[in-house]
Amino acid sequence: MAVADFFDVLKTRRTVRSYTNEGVSRQDIQDLIDSAVLAPTGMNAQPWAFTVVTSRELMGKLNAIVVEMLKGPEMQQLMASEGLRNAVNAPGFNIFYNAPALIAISGDPKAPSTAIDCQLAAENIFLAAHAKGLGTCYMGLLLMAGEIPGVRDLLKLPEGYKLQAAAIVGHPGQRPEGPPQRNPARIDWVA
Ligand SMILES: Cc1cc2nc3c(=O)[nH]c(=O)nc-3n(C[C@H](O)[C@H](O)[C@H](O)COP(=O)(O)O)c2cc1C
Repeated sequence: MAVADFFDVLKTRRTVRSYTNEGVSRQDIQDLIDSAVLAPTGMNAQPWAFTVVTSRELMGKLNAIVVEMLKGPEMQQLMASEGLRNAVNAPGFNIFYNAPALIAISGDPKAPSTAIDCQLAAENIFLAAHAKGLGTCYMGLLLMAGEIPGVRDLLKLPEGYKLQAAAIVGHPGQRPEGPPQRNPARIDWVA
């Protein structure tokens, strides 16, 4: 791929929250994980494990646990955004937006920079997916439930590993319009 194409990928990737019913092929998921593991890691520790879920039934169970957590009084109070509160409380809210696949990244806490390493891997997945015409959305709401035993059990996370990042993947239904909305970066050119 020419470098110019890479910048197109960067500039046009958006979070996708609407998916067609079409599944994501095993090869596509493999390609995304192959891209993820190219990310740099502290001391080249590569402290990650990738958990792939394509069962709608399992995603439904995970969703139910997360939504129940989000509807608890503590979480409702913590949710600063009224928009998010309304979305979460709407009937049928699905944190996965009915996407056909989930890639969860868990990490070995003994490595020196596990959390950072896993986020870098996740970003590679977002960019690679977009380059392949697939849509993705970071699953922050799932991460908030990462320590709930039911979530750990359903995902069958490796012993001792902690959920660090997660993305849904699918064929985009509706893509958000326009480029990412970004503020001008504060840049201090020091000396
Ligand atoms: C750490 C993190 C957590 C996120 N969690 C969610 C989430 O749980 N659900 C969701 O719909 N979007 C989630 N997002 C997506 C952001 O809302 C989105 O990236 C942001 O609004 C910018 O939009 P863009 O990705 O289209 O540029 C998350 C993004 C990040 C980086």
